[in-house]
Amino acid sequence: MSFASEDMAISLAIVLLLVLSTPCSSWKTQNKIKTAVYHSPMIELMPGSVFYKYYYDIDFPRGHVALKSFNAELVDESGNPVPLYETYLHHWVVVRYHQPKSELGSNSIVESQIDVINSGICQQNVLGQYFGLGSETRGTATDIPDPFGIEVGNPADIPEGYEEKWKLNVHAIDTRGVVDKTGCTECRCDLYNVTVNEKGKPLSPGYAGGMHCCYDQTLCRLKTGFKGPKRSLYMRYVVKWIDWDEFVVPLKIYILDVTDTLKISDTSLTDSPNHDCQIEYDVDPCKTNPNNGNGCVHVKRTSLPFQKGGYVIYAVAHQHAGGIGSTLYGEEGRVICTSMANYGSGDNAGNESGYIVGTSTCYPKPGSVKIINGEKLTLEFNYSNNIRHTGVMGLFYLLVAEQLPHEHYLTHFSPSPSPSSGI
Ligand SMILES: *[C@@H]1O[C@H](CO)[C@@H](O)[C@H](O)[C@H]1NC(C)=O
Ligand SMILES: *[C@@H]1O[C@H](CO)[C@@H](O)[C@H](O)[C@H]1NC(C)=O
Ligand SMILES: *[C@@H]1O[C@H](CO)[C@@H](O)[C@H](O)[C@H]1NC(C)=O
Repeated sequence: MSFASEDMAISLAIVLLLVLSTPCSSWKTQNKIKTAVYHSPMIELMPGSVFYKYYYDIDFPRGHVALKSFNAELVDESGNPVPLYETYLHHWVVVRYHQPKSELGSNSIVESQIDVINSGICQQNVLGQYFGLGSETRGTATDIPDPFGIEVGNPADIPEGYEEKWKLNVHAIDTRGVVDKTGCTECRCDLYNVTVNEKGKPLSPGYAGGMHCCYDQTLCRLKTGFKGPKRSLYMRYVVKWIDWDEFVVPLKIYILDVTDTLKISDTSLTDSPNHDCQIEYDVDPCKTNPNNGNGCVHVKRTSLPFQKGGYVIYAVAHQHAGGIGSTLYGEEGRVICTSMANYGSGDNAGNESGYIVGTSTCYPKPGSVKIINGEKLTLEFNYSNNIRHTGVMGLFYLLVAEQLPHEHYLTHFSPSPSPSSGI
């Protein structure tokens, strides 16, 4: 009995300590997490065919909200998940934009749209999306811990006469019956019999594979005589959010690209450094032991200045097949996040052998991983190069809070002269 009362006393002390050390704990938002399941318009595919399209004004939570997660997958007409070896999800991207109200409905008019891009850091609006992943979609966590969220739909941020909308870009490759599934998913130009890019311009010399060879309506080579039905698929996406209030601590979205060729030396001279994200790169096979190259690793690195720092709340890398994992380092080699590629080992959707079906994420304890203003970050992406890979990617997606909750609450709820305005 005495043990029990001692335990009670200890837990009471702990509770008291918690209450005293976190005076703002009762200030947590009471808003409930809402969930919606949406479907993209129809995605029609024939064996070997490529689908690459933008859908404008997609279904999305409306109003001033804080986004808490975004998950997606390809499903067929009956709602069954489609495995990657039938339809490879090269990527999907969700972009926020503003459109003049007078032009609602005329979605083909994209000139008047203003993309609302993330916080960077590539050139112009390259990689400006809010959300986006590829084959690893099903197995990658995207939840944002409380009290953080991605703020969207704030009327104060929407120009007069405009409305906030969302667009979806889907790039899917139907690999039923193709001669080489890996080659088709890596967009090897010879397999697509493509010599000009999507704009009709000749491919640059030596361009062997990548986005410029697997654009909309191209066809990857099929096994002789293969016939398969046309399929209608949908991207099913699940969005979680809460209504916005001052208790939500906003996050900024950053996407870093290992192909960014910015020279650090450029930046001392200018406030707007010349980022040049290429998005894709090739991995040459290792030469050391071509007959038995097992275990060869291709390492690509780049260093970039991170202008406005903050606390890392979430981080994840994006790689294509062959990817092993990657690390984002701060100055002096401090590890900010290591994100590893997980491969499937079965034959069902979400566990497809040979495909990246998920990527590990980093959720540092808020406050424990801080990037300082102007800190030089280094990206390191590893790919297996036992064989050659074309059109691979190396992106790091970061959610950064510029204030921790107590700092945020101090600035938003600091005692004011009028006591009645307190929370
Ligand atoms: C490849 O394209 C060329 C013309 O660009 C065409 O003559 C040839 O028949 C095509 N081959 C296949 C297998 O489709
Ligand atoms: C990437 O390769 C380098 C060099 O071999 C190694 O030091 C690092 O640990 C690897 N990183 C990951 C995430 O596998
Ligand atoms: C994937 O499938 C294999 C083979 O059936 C099984 O051994 C493995 O546990 C599965 N992995 C997951 C994460 O379900």
